[in-house]
Amino acid sequence: MMTNQEKQILLDVKHLKKYFQVGKKQTLKAVDDVSIQIYKGETLGLVGESGCGKSTFGRTILHLYEPTEGSVTFDGITVDHSLDRKQAHELSRRMQMIFQDPYASLNPRRKIMDIVGEGMDAHGLAKNRKDKEDQVVNLLETVGLQAEHADRFPHEFSGGQRQRVGIARALAVNPDFIVCDEPISALDVSIQAQVVNLLEELQEERGLTYLFIAHDLSMVKHISDRIGVMYLGCLMELADSEELFENPMHPYTKALLSAIPIPDPEIEKSRKRIMLEGSLPSPINLKNECKFASRCPNCKESCMQRQPELKEVSPGHFVACSCIE
Ligand SMILES: Nc1ncnc2c1ncn2[C@@H]1O[C@H](COP(=O)(O)OP(=O)(O)OP(=O)(O)O)[C@@H](O)[C@H]1O
Ligand SMILES: [Mg+2]
Repeated sequence: MMTNQEKQILLDVKHLKKYFQVGKKQTLKAVDDVSIQIYKGETLGLVGESGCGKSTFGRTILHLYEPTEGSVTFDGITVDHSLDRKQAHELSRRMQMIFQDPYASLNPRRKIMDIVGEGMDAHGLAKNRKDKEDQVVNLLETVGLQAEHADRFPHEFSGGQRQRVGIARALAVNPDFIVCDEPISALDVSIQAQVVNLLEELQEERGLTYLFIAHDLSMVKHISDRIGVMYLGCLMELADSEELFENPMHPYTKALLSAIPIPDPEIEKSRKRIMLEGSLPSPINLKNECKFASRCPNCKESCMQRQPELKEVSPGHFVACSCIE
């Protein structure tokens, strides 16, 4: 765990919005005014239900999407279209992504050697063909695969192995920051821990910073230094991982936590579950009220006015709820 003095900001995201135009007049606010700082060397977990904007957020901070509004600063460099080609190219090396479905994200017609080596070519990171092959073999071994795997195609691997290929590909260009977009959700439970352990080892060895996206809190609990909870494009709560589990404040976070089964059968029996009313509203043409209003057990008149801002309620613990002062 990092102390305050060690915290250096790697990514500074300010009032980031990503809206999609759907149909003629409808606006889908996939990311709606998110401000967050990601510190060097940390793992920031990001959780929320399907469709709440996690992937869009990850893609927008990597500048795979042009933001509708707001800014992203990476290591002091403002990531926008004013960057020249060289700077943009260098940033595309320093910021990488690992995907949920490693099969869909690996070209089925190319051998692992080429898939992993592609970024090295693009960024001129290998002296010659032999050097590239050596580096790829090294990477495969680093992620728990073997030299002979370099000659195979993606379909010749298991899900967990394919995710290791995806990790090797991201590492090949020596990045500083990786968006891990549900990298373990599609894997067998028994394999999930192995991949998480691998990511943690790599982080330690290489000083990597992760944004680790997942559906539910139990998946990010152990890997995250801090956790952000997203709902309909907004960040509802942000705190150190332990603090969030021990002292959740937003009614949505409380509901998410109450849904996690407790391993002790005695405690599990008495576990109170907070059921959320209704279903996730459509993110299209939402009113100005608090995004959680329609499902909140504590909703009051003032909650219908606007989405509350994220406020620091104790050191490092931020909540966006007008019921909490
Ligand atoms: N390219 C796009 N065009 C239009 N709408 C989009 C686009 N990409 C995402 N959306 C919409 O934006 C919202 C957020 O999607 P996003 O994929 O970011 O959610 P998510 O939290 O990653 O969900 P999941 O957990 O299912 O991966 C959804 O309503 C989605 O339909
Ligand atoms: Mg997603």
